[in-house]
Amino acid sequence: MAEPVSIDFIALKDAGAAPKGRAAKAGAGTLVILAGADLSMSDATRTLLGEATELVTRAAATAKFKGNSGSALDLLAPAGVNADRLLVIGTARKTGKNGAPAPDYLALGGAIMGKVDGTARVSVVFDLPDAPEDVAKAAADASLGMRLRAYKFDLYKTKKKDSDDKPDTATHVSIALADPVGAKREARSREALADGVTLARSLVNEPPNVLFPGAFADRAKELEKLGVIVEVLEEKALHKLGFRALLGVGQGSDFDSKVVIMRWNGAKNAKAKPVAFVGKGVCFDSGGISIKPAASMEDMKGDMAGAACVVGLMQTLAARKAKVNVIGAIGLVENMPDGKAQRPGDIVKSLSGQTVELINTDAEGRLVLADVLWYVQDKYKPQFMIDLATLTGAILVALGTEYAGLFSNNDELSTRLLDVGLATGEKVWRMPMGAAYDKLLESKFADMKHVGGRHAGSITAAQFLQRFVNDTPWAHLDIAGTGMSSPQSDINQSWGSGWGVRLLDRLVADHYEV
Ligand code: BES
Ligand code: MN
Ligand code: ZN
Repeated sequence: MAEPVSIDFIALKDAGAAPKGRAAKAGAGTLVILAGADLSMSDATRTLLGEATELVTRAAATAKFKGNSGSALDLLAPAGVNADRLLVIGTARKTGKNGAPAPDYLALGGAIMGKVDGTARVSVVFDLPDAPEDVAKAAADASLGMRLRAYKFDLYKTKKKDSDDKPDTATHVSIALADPVGAKREARSREALADGVTLARSLVNEPPNVLFPGAFADRAKELEKLGVIVEVLEEKALHKLGFRALLGVGQGSDFDSKVVIMRWNGAKNAKAKPVAFVGKGVCFDSGGISIKPAASMEDMKGDMAGAACVVGLMQTLAARKAKVNVIGAIGLVENMPDGKAQRPGDIVKSLSGQTVELINTDAEGRLVLADVLWYVQDKYKPQFMIDLATLTGAILVALGTEYAGLFSNNDELSTRLLDVGLATGEKVWRMPMGAAYDKLLESKFADMKHVGGRHAGSITAAQFLQRFVNDTPWAHLDIAGTGMSSPQSDINQSWGSGWGVRLLDRLVADHYEV
């Protein structure tokens, strides 16, 4: 797919050394240095520039480059600097009400990669006048930002664009810092994270004729290589178990529906209660008989972003050998109109035994989740369940693409999610729930209807899900606004964002590993 990126960490004293061996053929490459407020630079950086410091200062003045975060000074390397190109990256962030914000090394790495992607040899002098508290962690974070920024999904492009002058080569980055050994150690878990996020992105980006439920299950099966136990429940088994709400959604599709259960047993105590993640995996959502309008319907290939996040997360947790027992469960279906498709007015009996009157077949995600959530709490008795779903257009109306909607029956779990959201930048906003909203689901004919009406659409969807979680601590993340088609950033240029993998990996690392 995209050109690979390799990253290593070296000692500061080796920064900018003449390339040897194979690397020498690639030319001297690009030297990246960091500047703080008013073009402040670390001693090591100044030493490396030597007599060229004066030239850089003058070039900065001409270009009005002051070292602010988000700005860069791109120069032909002056004589005496062992490189073809010298890139000065600004790191100073604006001081706000609460002082200067903590530097965002993920974004810094992303910004660097944005400037050097496609360059064979890149050497970064990772040294700032205000040294970060933990330089190894900061550099490892930057390396994660670089990997995430470098991700491209170009599997189906058979020709390169004329405007694409980037050479088709691997980018090799060496990051020079005060603690290369520490950075190498820290970078290992970040690499597992990068792989999980990019896996999730690719699954979301894949077209729906390629990534139908069976193909998706096959991709999840590949986690077995990392020691994950993967079980695929086929339609026959699902019928027998009673997943009628889920099967009803897939019944208009030519593709068989599947449920995939992934298990990672990393806790010292094999019997420790697992944590559980559940994903909506609607591989394509046409709306079914309540068919969607044509405009942007192609985006509904991304209606499995929740399931993609769960698979990406499992990959990360297994690759970094997380010390926790985890269940990942995804419901994979395609929602299509057909003579066999379910209708508005149908009544289905869910796995929980509760009956549901169907109102609008485009509200299919909650039916899929209802059965998977019930199954997971009943069979695995987890410490908590978190589901992720591109569930409602209404969450885009409420929160846009900045925050995912958080709905929960548990304050502790909610607080933890809010905190790791701020720490990772994958932010969540807690929405209200309550009996008054629940009333909107009353049905004349069945235990409930599955759609509440025009108002509070994201909340009534969450109220519906809550009826299938029993007393398990539970949180629902509505990621319709964040999982796909969200704005590009320093660390993401892809349509499928891989949203949630970093958030939930951090949640597990900070609170549930023993
Ligand atoms: N997959 C959609 C929600 C969605 C919309 C995701 C936009 C991403 C972007 C979901 O299945 C859906 O169609 N929801 C309906 C529910 C309605 C029929 C009650 C919606 O939001 O309109
Ligand atoms: Mn739908
Ligand atoms: Zn949907």
